[in-house]
Amino acid sequence: MCGIVGYIGERSASDVLIKGLKRLEYRGYDSAGVAVMNGKMLCSKGKGKVSNLEKTLKKNKIEGFLGIGHTRWATHGEPNDVNSHPHLSESGKIAVVHNGIIENYTTLKKNLIERGRTFQSQTDTEVIAQLIEEIYTTSADITFDRAIRLALKQIVGTYGLAILNSETPDRIFIARKGSPLLLGIGDNEMFVASDASPIVEYTNKVVYLDDGEMAIVTQDSYRVKTIDDFPLTKEVHELAMSLDAIEKAGYPHFMLKEIFEQPRSVADCMRGRLNHEEGTILLGGIEDVMDHLVKARRIVIAACGTSWHSALVGEYLFEQLAKTPVEVEYASEFRYRDPLIGEGDVLLVISQSGETADTLAALREAKKRGALVLGICNVVGSTISRETDAGVFTHAGPEIGVASTKAFTAQVVVLIMMALELGERKGILGQKEMKRYLTELMRIPSKIEYILEHSDEAIQKMAGLFTYAPNFLYLGRSFNFPVALEGALKLKEISYIHAEGYPAAEMKHGPIALIDEMMPVVVIAATDHTNDKMISNIQEVKARKGRIISIMNDDNPEVKELSEFHISIPSTIDCFSPLLTVIPLQLLSYYIAVNRGCNVDQPRNLAKSVTVE
Ligand code: F6R
Repeated sequence: MCGIVGYIGERSASDVLIKGLKRLEYRGYDSAGVAVMNGKMLCSKGKGKVSNLEKTLKKNKIEGFLGIGHTRWATHGEPNDVNSHPHLSESGKIAVVHNGIIENYTTLKKNLIERGRTFQSQTDTEVIAQLIEEIYTTSADITFDRAIRLALKQIVGTYGLAILNSETPDRIFIARKGSPLLLGIGDNEMFVASDASPIVEYTNKVVYLDDGEMAIVTQDSYRVKTIDDFPLTKEVHELAMSLDAIEKAGYPHFMLKEIFEQPRSVADCMRGRLNHEEGTILLGGIEDVMDHLVKARRIVIAACGTSWHSALVGEYLFEQLAKTPVEVEYASEFRYRDPLIGEGDVLLVISQSGETADTLAALREAKKRGALVLGICNVVGSTISRETDAGVFTHAGPEIGVASTKAFTAQVVVLIMMALELGERKGILGQKEMKRYLTELMRIPSKIEYILEHSDEAIQKMAGLFTYAPNFLYLGRSFNFPVALEGALKLKEISYIHAEGYPAAEMKHGPIALIDEMMPVVVIAATDHTNDKMISNIQEVKARKGRIISIMNDDNPEVKELSEFHISIPSTIDCFSPLLTVIPLQLLSYYIAVNRGCNVDQPRNLAKSVTVE
C-alpha cells in the first residue's frame, strides 16, 4: 500500500527511482512521483501509472544522484497531480514521501495555517513536510535531524517516511512507525525502500527498520537510532529473494505466472519439512511451541481477504485432524471487539505480505492479552513475521500480482502440516495415517501440474462464454466452502463482476432467489464425503435453470451429467482438496478479466499490501 524508494550513489537517481517504482507499483498505482536533489529540489509527479511519470521524465529529465520516489494508493485526498507524492514544504526545500496515515493531520494543519503556512494539497503527508520546516526554521540552532524528531513527536498515526532537505544535500532521512521500511547497502551507494523488490537487483544486504526508528543515510554510511535519539546497532540481513522471482518470465501477467508457479511453490513450501516414509513432519519455526499448541484449549486464527479464506480451511483442518477447536476471525473485527483471548490461548495470524495493518493489530492485541501468537507469512523479514512468538514461512516466493494465488495454496499447505503434526502429537493420528497423508501431500504438486496442463485451454474457452456475465455464484461444501469464497473474491477483484461464495446448502436460504437462466453457478463438487448432498444442491440450481460449471473429481459421472461445463481434476484426500479445486477458479477469473480488458495485475482501487486500517 504505497511504495517508497530512495537512492543515493553514482547512478542516475531518476533511473533507479523509476525502475524501483515499477517494481513497487503493485503496492499502489493511483499516482507516482520523484524528488531529486541537484543543487536544488527538483520534483516531478502526477496522477496515473509510473509509465506516465517515466514519459514525463523522458521529456523533462531530472539529473541528480540522490532522490526519493513514491507510488500511491490514495487514502487522504483524491488521486490527482497535486495530491501525488513527494510533497514539498512551502519553501520547496524539503521533500517528503510517506506511507501510512497521519490521524491528527487536521489539527496539525489548522495550527500550521494559523502560523501563516499555505497548503497545496488535501493530503496528510504535506502536513509532515510543513511541520518539519516550521520547526526547523523557527527554532534556533536546530539540526534538521532534530527537527524531524520533534515533528514526529507531534504526529499521531502511522508512517514510513523518506525525507530530503536541500540544505543537507548528501543524505536521505527515513523513519518508521507502522509502515515497513528497509535500507539496502550497496557498494558506495545506498537504497531505501518499503520492500526489497526495488533494491534486489543492486544489493542483497539489507537493514530492516523497526517501529520508532529512524536512519540518516549517506552514500557510504548509515546511522540508525530511535526517534528519541538513542543510537542503535542493527543486524544486516541477507536477502534470499532473486531478481527472476520478481520478473514476469515471459508470462503476460504476474498473476498467470504465479498461478503456473504453484507446483513449484507448493513443493518449496513442503521442502525439507516432510518425511513420508517415517510419517513425520518437522516445522522448525514452531518446534519450540508445539507443547503449548498441544495443550491449547483452542486456536483463534485471524487474517484478511484470501488469507482469511485459508484460515477457514485451517478451521476444518485443525478440527478434523487434531480435534482442536478453532475460531476464525476477520483481523479487522477482532481487535475492536474486546476479544476474549488470553493465557492458554493461541492466536495464529496468516498474512502473505506480513504487513497487513489489521492483522498486525490483531497480533498485538492478542500478545498484550497474554496469548501465544503464531504466524504464517510469506515475506521473510516482514513485520508480522518478526513480531510473532513463532511461525512458519510459506516459502512461496514473491507474490507480485495483486490477486493472491500461490500464497493461498502455500498457506493451506502450512495449515495442513501444522494440523497433521498437532494431530500426531495429540495421539489422534497414528504413524500409518500420517504416512498415508504425507504420501498424498507429496503428490499434490504433480496433481496441480496436471490441472494446469489439462484444463488451461478448456477454462480459456469457458471464460470466453461467460466474459460478460453480470453475476456469478460459487458454491462449495466442507473444505471447499472457503474455496467458493476464494473463487468469488478472485473474480470480483480482477474482473469487477459481482460474485458471491456460499456454502452450497445455504443457497436455499436466500441466494436461490437469484438463480435464473442468466446465472452461472460454479459448484465445487470434489469432496467425496459431501458428494451426495452436493448433487442435490446442483439439482436445485438446475431446476431453476442456472448454468452449472462444476469442478469435479475425474470419476463423477453424476455431477458431469448435471453440468453444462465441467473441469475434471485428480482425486485426493478430502482435506487436501482446496489445493486442487482453487486452481481452475484462479484460471477462470484470470481469463475472464483478460477478456474484459481489465488490468489483471493492478485492479482498480486495490493494492497488494494493505498497511492502513
Ligand atoms: C486477495 C488479496 C487480499 C489479501 C489481503 C490480506 O486476492 O490479495 O484479499 O489476501 O489483503 O493480505 P495479506 O495476506 O498480505 O495479509
